[in-house]
Amino acid sequence: MGKAEGQVLVKAENLKRYFRVEAGLFSRGKARWVHAVDGVNLHIRKKEIFGLVGESGCGKTTVGKLFLGLERPTSGSVYFDGVDISKLSREELRKLRREMGIVYQHPQSSLNPRMLIEETLRRPIEIHKLAKNEQEKKRMILDVLDEVGIERYLLERYPHELSGGQQQRIAIARILLLNPKFIVLDEPTSALDVLVQAHVLNILSNLHEKFGFSYLFISHDLDVVEHISDRMAVMYVGKIVELARKKDLRRRAMHPYTRSLLAAVPIPDPRKKMKKREILRGEVPSAISPPRGCRFHPRCPHAMDICRKKEPKFKDVGGGHYVACYLFKSSR
Ligand SMILES: Nc1ncnc2c1ncn2[C@@H]1O[C@H](COP(=O)(O)OP(=O)(O)OP(=O)(O)O)[C@@H](O)[C@H]1O
Ligand SMILES: [Mg+2]
Repeated sequence: MGKAEGQVLVKAENLKRYFRVEAGLFSRGKARWVHAVDGVNLHIRKKEIFGLVGESGCGKTTVGKLFLGLERPTSGSVYFDGVDISKLSREELRKLRREMGIVYQHPQSSLNPRMLIEETLRRPIEIHKLAKNEQEKKRMILDVLDEVGIERYLLERYPHELSGGQQQRIAIARILLLNPKFIVLDEPTSALDVLVQAHVLNILSNLHEKFGFSYLFISHDLDVVEHISDRMAVMYVGKIVELARKKDLRRRAMHPYTRSLLAAVPIPDPRKKMKKREILRGEVPSAISPPRGCRFHPRCPHAMDICRKKEPKFKDVGGGHYVACYLFKSSR
């Protein structure tokens, strides 16, 4: 059985998260809502690497946080191992979070600048009483350093004395200590140099191979996610517009937005690159007042009358491939 057919670990059902934007100087006294996540349905299977891509502000991080219970949904549900996490008490959720982790784009935001690396790694072991004695504690720290390829002398350093790649590996090490089932990787390599990016991706990939957890890998860069993912989804202004196995997303991309993202990937011939870039016209619409009908219609080269009026359903077009676009018919 392939990973794409395995047991479901995390599942979102009609998930929505709206943020209230306070009435300000320019909004004539009326509070408005940002539709950050607006009806997302997806599941991630055990041991699966699920890639989530889309432009800045489309709601990727909010989806990641909702999955971990770090944000509460406005409506809809998140299930983790069959449990609806919105129904859990604060204490129950805290316990469950031990099985999950998040790696942020900027490791500084998750490492305490005043704590030595050794202390950063020792704290979770103590808080969660993971070791029987001092010796076991040390063993755990050294083991986890080996897993992420960090040398021991760095234990006596502060985060600011480490490179970006080293900091990110410490952030990963700290999550590993808790032996999680699910990790959200939120642009984990976007802030790193290209060579370091490849190294960190390699470590993430090896750890996945060894420990078999599930990843939600978030990126604005389809190429980065594609390399490592089993299945991928493309998000546009709070909604998923296409979801498929990665090779189907590349070879049989359907949604005009997905196709424009693929075309925007730089290709070796500079003349072709210029031409293809023209496909994606106009600005990303506001998540405060998303366009009626299909949210992509103002930028879509194929927009029809219906696209401006009625929102397309997210339909199954066969083989685990889903798309929200009137150009394609459901397989059922
Ligand atoms: N706490 C918040 N309060 C108000 N608005 C928010 C909050 N968090 C996110 N938003 C808004 O929700 C939308 C989605 O944000 P989110 O961070 O999920 O996007 P993203 O896809 O991760 O973007 P990026 O690629 O830039 O990280 C944005 O318009 C953002 O401004
Ligand atoms: Mg983000």
